Amino acid sequence: MGEIFDLFDGERNFLFRQIPKGERKNHSEFNLIVHIWLQWGDKFLITQRAHDIFWGGYWQPTGGHVRAGELSFQAALRETAEEIGINPVNLPSRYLFSYKCVADGVKRPNSFFLDAWLFDISSLVEDHKSQKDFFASLNFQPDEVIDGRFATFDEIKSLHADGLFMPFEETYENFWQDLQFALFNKSLFPEKNAPDISEFPNLTPKNLRAWGEKKLSEISSTPQLDSLIFITETLGKDKSFILTNPFLPLAPDEVRSFFSMINRRQTGECVAYITGKKSFFNHEFFVNPHVLVPKSDSELLVEKVVEALGDFTSGEVKIIDVCTGSGCLIISVLREASRIFPQLKIKAWATDISPEALAVAKKNAATICENEEINFRHCNFFRPLDQSRDEMPQSYDIIFSNPPYVPKKVAEELLKDGRGEPMLALDGGEDGCDAIRSLTEQASSLLKKGGKIFIETGEYNAEFTRNLLSEFGFSQVETFADLGGLPRLTRGIKD
Ligand SMILES: C[S@@+](CC[C@H](N)C(=O)[O-])C[C@H]1O[C@@H](n2cnc3c(N)ncnc32)[C@H](O)[C@@H]1O
Repeated sequence: MGEIFDLFDGERNFLFRQIPKGERKNHSEFNLIVHIWLQWGDKFLITQRAHDIFWGGYWQPTGGHVRAGELSFQAALRETAEEIGINPVNLPSRYLFSYKCVADGVKRPNSFFLDAWLFDISSLVEDHKSQKDFFASLNFQPDEVIDGRFATFDEIKSLHADGLFMPFEETYENFWQDLQFALFNKSLFPEKNAPDISEFPNLTPKNLRAWGEKKLSEISSTPQLDSLIFITETLGKDKSFILTNPFLPLAPDEVRSFFSMINRRQTGECVAYITGKKSFFNHEFFVNPHVLVPKSDSELLVEKVVEALGDFTSGEVKIIDVCTGSGCLIISVLREASRIFPQLKIKAWATDISPEALAVAKKNAATICENEEINFRHCNFFRPLDQSRDEMPQSYDIIFSNPPYVPKKVAEELLKDGRGEPMLALDGGEDGCDAIRSLTEQASSLLKKGGKIFIETGEYNAEFTRNLLSEFGFSQVETFADLGGLPRLTRGIKD
């Protein structure tokens, strides 16, 4: 039996659990939902079960236990064999599951734990003549199973987006990313459009780049660059290495993830989500589909805010990034300010209405910031949504934001290309100005006298933003042009 992937054995950490190990909670307090996923071709079987919770520190679908001498994955397989009739002994199996506890009637879990293993069950599946036979052979206990069906990976992604599966940020931040890596990059799915690598002529960077570029020419405006990025990611080398080693012979196993990346890009998905990163203001930010991919045009906002910090010679400066997304603005501002104005004592806040986006921002702060600290808060603009959090400050010296400002209909059209950016990050209501209005209104009473506000918008709502800022009593209102010469960044000063 070959275990090919165990997400957690190396990552188990008692702190990830909110119920102490060994403590037992009963069904009236929590529902335990267990998802067992079994792969069939490019689909997964998802089952959901409800049980009392038993905490043993290992995966236990029905509160079983790990026997002496057993490893956790062996226990998981044995219990699955007992539960659903699969006998994986001596068979490679592929297998992934997670479970979470949800307080009755409450959507967000107040306790959660997940585990995952992937085993290769391909030969097990081959033992059955058809999918139907395979299903029939699973011996689910009907009163335990809430739902069992095959789902595509896209369905799984949407379950996740709807909060019905794996609020992973509360336990193990990289779970979703690692899952995708396991599913796509390790080629657990047979790739529909992947060439038979063994027949690929001369597996070299040059040939792969050309092949990828051709595949992407219809959907991407930068097929050459995309293909090059995917090769660098696949081989873990930088661009200059790839360009200077065009004829390097490559082994099929080294390049499988390249084909997955090309496939994903062909659906329109952003390059940054596929690689999981985006460069902004000289830093590399982790990104996933919960956050807008940082745009180089927003670097102007960082420059202007840092410039404004130059007005302060000493003392404490309070700044806030509203609608922080990946955290690219606040993190870049602070890194730059530490370098240029080391004497300044900056107290920084950053808010977002999306907890998933905040998880990404926190992760970026943890990897990119050095001594800078940021208070991340779950807020509707400035207003905390989580009452247990510390109160927010009542005044700031500098407020800045790149809020959602695209008219709803336009945003819907934009997203049809499959890029995968969150609607929440774009949708500014019918005229695109809803967020600009709320932000300005709330900011007008929170900015100190002489304080500055910076709002990034589309060129089509810059004039609206200028008028609005003047209406709310801001002076010296001015719009600055971005790299492309478009009026995108509006500043006002509180009188
Ligand atoms: C255009 S994105 C900007 C992200 C990031 N600041 C950047 O420049 O890349 C807008 C962000 O606003 C967040 N957002 C939307 N409505 C919000 C609200 N009412 N309060 C706080 N954040 C909100 C979205 O979740 C999204 O992360």
